Amino acid sequence: IRLLAQNSLRYRRQILALKHFFAKNGATVLLLDDLTSESLDKTVHSVVHGVIRLEELAPDYGAERRRMRVMKYRGTKFRGGWHDFVIQTGGVRVFPRLVASEHRTSFARTQISSGIGELDTLVGGGIERGSSVLVLGPAGTGKSTFIFQFITAAIKRGEKAAMFIFDEELGLLFDRCRAMGFDFQKMVDEGNLHIEQVDAAELSPGEFAYRVREVVDTSNAKTVAIDSLNGYSAAMPNENSLVLHVHELLQYLNRQGATTFLTVAQHGLVGDMKAPVDVTYLADTVILLRYYEAIGRVKRAVSIIKKRTGAHEDTIREYRIGNRGLALGQPLEEFQGVLRGVPNYIGKQATVVPMSENE
Ligand SMILES: Nc1ncnc2c1ncn2[C@@H]1O[C@H](COP(=O)(O)OP(=O)(O)OP(=O)(O)O)[C@@H](O)[C@H]1O
Ligand SMILES: [Mg+2]
Repeated sequence: IRLLAQNSLRYRRQILALKHFFAKNGATVLLLDDLTSESLDKTVHSVVHGVIRLEELAPDYGAERRRMRVMKYRGTKFRGGWHDFVIQTGGVRVFPRLVASEHRTSFARTQISSGIGELDTLVGGGIERGSSVLVLGPAGTGKSTFIFQFITAAIKRGEKAAMFIFDEELGLLFDRCRAMGFDFQKMVDEGNLHIEQVDAAELSPGEFAYRVREVVDTSNAKTVAIDSLNGYSAAMPNENSLVLHVHELLQYLNRQGATTFLTVAQHGLVGDMKAPVDVTYLADTVILLRYYEAIGRVKRAVSIIKKRTGAHEDTIREYRIGNRGLALGQPLEEFQGVLRGVPNYIGKQATVVPMSENE
């Protein structure tokens, strides 16, 4: 019609005439504009009742992303901003942007245990229900193992849990964790654990948030793990939107009384460390993992960097991952510079034996 009308004024008149004709007949009309001509032509926008804009983005890698925005809708409050959507067999599915403040439930803010006495002591007695925990550390330190420990403890308490895995293949994960005493297959079979592998290249952030919400609502999971945010950030157009997204998702989960565990892998192995995404200020508790070198061995240390909800130990403890899973030692009081990676021994003993070998 726009092409036939030739100029904007005539175009507007034509559209108005059409509008009156259809209104008289009580018809609901959907007008499509493929935005091939002057994209700034807003002639129709002022005539119609509502305007929905669709966009398709092609990321450098991965499937195309589709999003939509309601630009105008007369007489109704609508959810503003961009919403991801997919076109699939059966139709279109829109994932409305999550607004956490709309979902508030009440629950008791009790402390939950990790199942390891030393770890509970380190975090000041336990993790508050409905708070978020970030496990930060270089590759291979045991970030996943820490969250597996919390998941396993939750299921042992009789609760339900959900895990969203970005990085690992599930078959391998099940096999390797069984060796450490985390029998995820059994937990899944008994219906206590929902575990899902997420392909960052295929899924849009909006769809992921929707999946998490759906799983948490239907399975009533009170412990949720996202491993890792590095994978999640790969699904994001830019870092800023990742932070906003994670923030909204965490808020939503926390308001449902679900304790959320996230991991972020940092670049570097010892010494200076950089995180690809800084979400430390979003999480209520931050658990920092580090490699350090002592008497010719690479050891691992854990420390709590912050905990919004209360006091925690300010010590650094050694931990080990073994056949029986995770084990923590006593505070490393005789070392200085553990977090730097190359500590000095300032104690009296000549050897360092914080934990027995068979742990
Ligand atoms: N059965 C086992 N016995 C002893 N140590 C083990 C065992 N299984 C795993 N580990 C140790 O745990 C480490 C991996 O732990 P985990 O997967 O939790 O680390 P991560 O920080 O999540 O790693 P990534 O950065 O790759 O995700 C291995 O590097 C290994 O040292
Ligand atoms: Mg991991």
